[in-house]
Order: sequence, then structure tokens, then C-alpha cells
Amino acid sequence: MKKISLTGIKPTGDLHIGNYFGAIKPALELAKEYDARYFIADYHALNTMKDPKELHSTIRQVAAGWLACGLDPEKVIFYRQSSIPEVFELTTILMSFTAKGLMNRAHAYKAAAAENNEKGDDTDAGINMGLFTYPVLMAADIIIFDSDIVPVGKDQVQHIEMAQDIAQSINANYNQQILKVPQAGVQEDSAVIPGLDGRKMSKSYNNVIPLFAPEKTLRKTIMRITTNSQTVEEPKNPDESQIFSLYKLFADTNEQSALAARYRAGGMGWGEAKEELFNAVNRTLSPIRERYDSIMADIPALDKILENGTQKARPIAADVLNRLKKAAGIL
Ligand code: TRP
Repeated sequence: MKKISLTGIKPTGDLHIGNYFGAIKPALELAKEYDARYFIADYHALNTMKDPKELHSTIRQVAAGWLACGLDPEKVIFYRQSSIPEVFELTTILMSFTAKGLMNRAHAYKAAAAENNEKGDDTDAGINMGLFTYPVLMAADIIIFDSDIVPVGKDQVQHIEMAQDIAQSINANYNQQILKVPQAGVQEDSAVIPGLDGRKMSKSYNNVIPLFAPEKTLRKTIMRITTNSQTVEEPKNPDESQIFSLYKLFADTNEQSALAARYRAGGMGWGEAKEELFNAVNRTLSPIRERYDSIMADIPALDKILENGTQKARPIAADVLNRLKKAAGIL
């Protein structure tokens, strides 16, 4: 039997090429080897997104984004967290086995509390229970599908460890292997994708190259990449240029060495380097953008895809939930 890979995608708008190379592409690679279950973590998003229109459209944008990037809903079970009620029932059970102290130690909660303390506010100001118990819901997401591996970024590793803790204390309590203990799948070579200003590409730095922007906007964005004041004539070191780092993501090795030679030879200005980058990026993104636009043009069809995923997911979730309820004496 194939092993199970599962990951949750928090719906935050405007996917960018950092998301693509950091999360989407590796998860889609993994889906070739594993039995993959990928879902939109919409209830996790509700903790912070209180505007209904924004949440509604972000959920669709992110789902369309993953499909446009190549997620095949015939092969991957693709669904929305909110459509699997078993997840929330499991969350309630997990709550009984989760030490409050464990949640106190969660990085996201600790950071929010520390920020409050620094400002002289009440420690828990503005912190809702959804944020505080975030790791329990996430553990339920994972455990409900008997997941073997959870591809995530480094920032999520602590959450996976908490899911392991919770599953293990349940197994220990009932003295049986009822729940599968998941492993984190952190990409080792996850190179940092540089943003327009050379810092890590991130929405919070406002330095991203969006995945689905129209061609003109894409070009303008790439032209905004910051450069040093080297003249056209000066030879340039490709290994010190974020323009070249980005180019490498989109070009094959022959193209990379040809362009590196032009950097080193001198006579190529930054404008031209950006033009080369734009051409390479646009070549890759054009078909993805077209698919994205056509998926977004038919939201009912998109919702149907997610609904089909739900149909496949729920019986699996119900099995795991019932296994635990029996062991616990609830069934
Ligand atoms: N917390 C994850 C993030 O912020 C999203 C997520 C929710 C998730 N549930 C999950 C990831 C389960 C992996 C498994 O990116």
C-alpha cells in the first residue's frame, strides 16, 4: 500500500513564486509517490480573516491556484477542511488529551503573547481560542487521514511534533496503536527564494513576484528588482545577483551557463538581465496563468471539484474517527 502524504493549505491570497517553489511544487512532486490528500485549511484562516467576501474569494483563488499549478484532482484527494465534519469531532476528542501547557509553548501563540507584553497590553489581548488551539485542529487534520508524511515548511515543524505528542498520548492511554503518528516532511534543500529587494520573498515584505499576474504586471514587477549601481560595461557576478538566482529557477542548465557567461563578460546591463529573467519566468507562468484564469471563470465547476474530493475523503475520515471512538468507549 502506498504511504499517505497530507498537507493543509492556508488560504492567503495572491500566491507568489516563493509559494510555488517552496510549497506547491514539492508537494506535487510528493503526490507522484504517495497517496496524497491536500486540503484548503479554511477554518484555520477564519482565525484571522473576518471579512466574509475576502475569505470566500481567497478560498477559491488558492484552490484554483493549486489546480492551475498541476494538482490532479483525480489522483490527489483535494477538499476543503470545513466540509469534513469528522475533523471537528476528532478535534474535540484530541482536546481531552492535549495539555494546556503544550499550547502555551506553541510558537505562534508565544509570539503573539510576547508582542502584547512588550506593548504593555494584557498578555492575551486580541488572541482568540482559534489561534490558541490552532495546533489541535491541525493535529486532527493530519490524524484523521492516517497520514504518514506531512510536507511543510520549517515554521510548521513544531505543529507536527505536537500532533505526534497528542497521537502518542492517546495510543499510550488505550495501550493500542489506534492513531498513526505522522512525520514532518521538510525539504532539506529548500533554497530561499529571493524577493524583489533581495530579502526572502514574502508577502509581509511586499517583495513578491505573483504567480498569476497579467503579463504586463509581471514585467513591471520584475523591472522593479533592486540592483547595484554597476554600469553596463562592468562584468557582473551572477552568483551575487538575485536576478540570476531567480533566473536559475526558470531556466535549464545550458541557459544558465550561457547567461552566466554574459554576466561575467561585461556589456550586459541590469535592464537586459531583467529582460532575460522576464522571458524565462513568463514562458513558465503563461500556461499556468491561462489555466488559472479559466478555472476562476467557472467557480461552480471549481466548487464541484472540491465537493468530489469531500466525497472521497469523508468515508476515510469516518473510519479513523470511529476507530478512536470505539477505543474511547464513546461508541
Ligand atoms: N498551519 C499550516 C500553515 O500555516 C496549514 C495547515 C493547517 C496544515 N492544517 C494542516 C499543514 C495540516 C499541514 C497539515 O501553513
